[in-house]
Amino acid sequence: MIDVVLGLQWGDEGKGKIVDVLTPQYDVVARFQGGPNAGHSLEFNGQKHVLNTIPSGIFHKHCINIIGSGVVIDPITFKKEIEKITLGGAEPLVNLYISEKAHLILPTHRLVDAASEANKGEHKIGSTLRGISPTYQDKIGRSGLRVGDILAANFNQKYEVVAANHRTLLDRFNHPYNMAEIEPAFFEAIEFLKQFKIVNTEYFLDDLMNDGKKVLAEGAQGTLLDIDYGTYPFVTSSNTITGGVCNGLGVAPQKIKKVYGIFKAYCTRVGSGPFPTEQDNEQGEELRQLGREFGATTGRPRRTGWLDLPTLKYSIMLNGVTDLICTKSDVLSGLGEIPVCHSYEIDGTVSDKIPYSLVDANINPQYQSFTGWTGDLSKIKNYHDLPETFKTYMQFVEDQIGLKVNTISVGPDRDETIVRS
Ligand code: GDP
Ligand code: IMO
Ligand code: MG
Repeated sequence: MIDVVLGLQWGDEGKGKIVDVLTPQYDVVARFQGGPNAGHSLEFNGQKHVLNTIPSGIFHKHCINIIGSGVVIDPITFKKEIEKITLGGAEPLVNLYISEKAHLILPTHRLVDAASEANKGEHKIGSTLRGISPTYQDKIGRSGLRVGDILAANFNQKYEVVAANHRTLLDRFNHPYNMAEIEPAFFEAIEFLKQFKIVNTEYFLDDLMNDGKKVLAEGAQGTLLDIDYGTYPFVTSSNTITGGVCNGLGVAPQKIKKVYGIFKAYCTRVGSGPFPTEQDNEQGEELRQLGREFGATTGRPRRTGWLDLPTLKYSIMLNGVTDLICTKSDVLSGLGEIPVCHSYEIDGTVSDKIPYSLVDANINPQYQSFTGWTGDLSKIKNYHDLPETFKTYMQFVEDQIGLKVNTISVGPDRDETIVRS
């Protein structure tokens, strides 16, 4: 059986922390999509670790970690990440497995990403510029390179065909490149990658599950960045929702049991695109500072705003969430009033449903305000000990979404987590 952890907003909900907290209950953690556009932070023993491609169970020695076939891997970033986590005490040569079918991000994919974004001008997506979209385009266009290819004798020839394609594209964009500068690090990183266990993860996972092992699938990005159901075109290039687990790991749908959906007690977004409850003002700046809302991967300031229940309900529906987790409510401590958006008014009609395009709709968010709470929530261990004002706010959210929130995260550390009985 396989359970899933994923984000219900625009990413950065705290997936890394929650996976790390849940890992003791699992034998396997498997990333199913995305790539180094992700930045998943975890904290324990006073140390913060940020993971991009590697699953967040890597610091638990008992746990097998799998990079699934739905993931795109940049060998150069991967090498740096491995070196960093090894210093942090992980042993990835022992407990990390990589799908032979995961696609490779080439240095030219990154350049094409940059050229394409520059070409979009003011309509740019605000991509992390990690080469994500060009790599998934090559995958869908059936011209990509996969991890399994690096073991073939003719890998360099295969590489050259794809790279030549990219050079043509870059010439068309009039984007500069210097292959002699970018290729040596890539080929060095390819050699590095060869030391790892490159396997057929479909059979591997099936065998593990048949042996009764418990698997946790780790999502990246968030539901509102899903290629099909997110705020298109301001999305990423993979399926971030529960459906992506079947594609990205090669597991059958009936194997999926629990779906842990994570949401922040407010909202953030990095990059361009619609954000109905955004507070592009002093209040938003206060939220950014209090929540330290700066990208874990790019360091970019995250846009901030209030909790948005119409999109949250949509995300819960799409993913079939069974277990809800709320993070970062500690950040709101000390704010006098906490507004929650319960519906949208669009051209005179009020609804809690998402319109065809959040980009073009003229959305006027409808709020209900709650009295805030004060004090440090991070050391509280029991739900009953949380401030009454917090519980009133949470009760409203639960009534609106029709599901109980099982876990409240009140700080970045593993230990700062309240599980409701
Ligand atoms: P992810 O991409 O979903 O894994 O989230 P990120 O790691 O990009 O961003 C979440 C940030 O919030 C990280 O800096 C975490 O350490 C931090 N964090 C996670 N949960 C909490 C929480 O409950 N409270 C606070 N204050 N910080 C948290
Ligand atoms: P985690 O896993 C937040 C955003 C980018 C951009 C859009 C497309 O840490 O939650 P891409 O590089 O994928 O082509 O960018 O998606 N984005 C994220 N925002 N958290 C992430 O990952 C993100 N991964 C991509 O900012 O708007
Ligand atoms: Mg992140």
